[in-house]
Amino acid sequence: MARKPIIAGNWKMNMTPAEAKELIAALIPLVQDAAADVVICPPYLAIPTAAELVKGTNIALGAQNIHWAEKGAFTGEISAKMLKEVGVSYAIIGHSERRQYFGETDETVNMRAKAAIAAGITPIICVGESLEERETGKTEAIVSAQTEKALAGIEAKDVKILVIAYEPIWAIGTGKTATKEQANETIACIRNTVKKLYGEETAEAVRIQYGGSMNPKNAAELMAMPEIDGGLIGGASLKAEDFSKVAKY
Ligand code: 13P
Repeated sequence: MARKPIIAGNWKMNMTPAEAKELIAALIPLVQDAAADVVICPPYLAIPTAAELVKGTNIALGAQNIHWAEKGAFTGEISAKMLKEVGVSYAIIGHSERRQYFGETDETVNMRAKAAIAAGITPIICVGESLEERETGKTEAIVSAQTEKALAGIEAKDVKILVIAYEPIWAIGTGKTATKEQANETIACIRNTVKKLYGEETAEAVRIQYGGSMNPKNAAELMAMPEIDGGLIGGASLKAEDFSKVAKY
């Protein structure tokens, strides 16, 4: 069965609620005929505004993180239940910026992914190697281990419907995209890891995106690769025109 492509915009720490309103208003008509699933992940503060605006459109809403506890003494954190209530259906988990700057580990990624699933939110689990790891031939070992640890204890039925994003750290925000062959090959390795853990059916169902300097110019050739099921877009998701072109690659 063919996997439905999914294009998600990770706005990172950009856009006030007022700016978000403008961007979403411009985006709605531009992506209404997109064949792919379209997701935007604004900062938390803009989510309620975004939720109102995307109601009744083909744009789904995602968060950029999620805490593993339902509630409690975790200053500065946001729970899956809170996000669900305001209309969030996806959550990016374990982005390399969280791993690099905020001490995110494979274990916390796993806990956050499980909390998302328990609340009915689809995790977009990020994995990816550093430049040094790629240059020393460790890419496959790194992404396989990250995938296995992120999925630990998650049932096949849930793995089938979640999303994995392969984001080589060296390609994020650098303008340096992985070649379509590199992206395809590493995503195949991630799918193979899922196959070893869960079997063929689950591996064939799980959607795996590429992320890292994906833009209107390179989206079509990346999306034409058989293993690449979508994109996680940073910089190019902040302009309605650019993001819509990627979404309609
Ligand atoms: P850029 O598209 O800006 O390289 O960011 C990719 C990314 O990190 C998406 O999560």
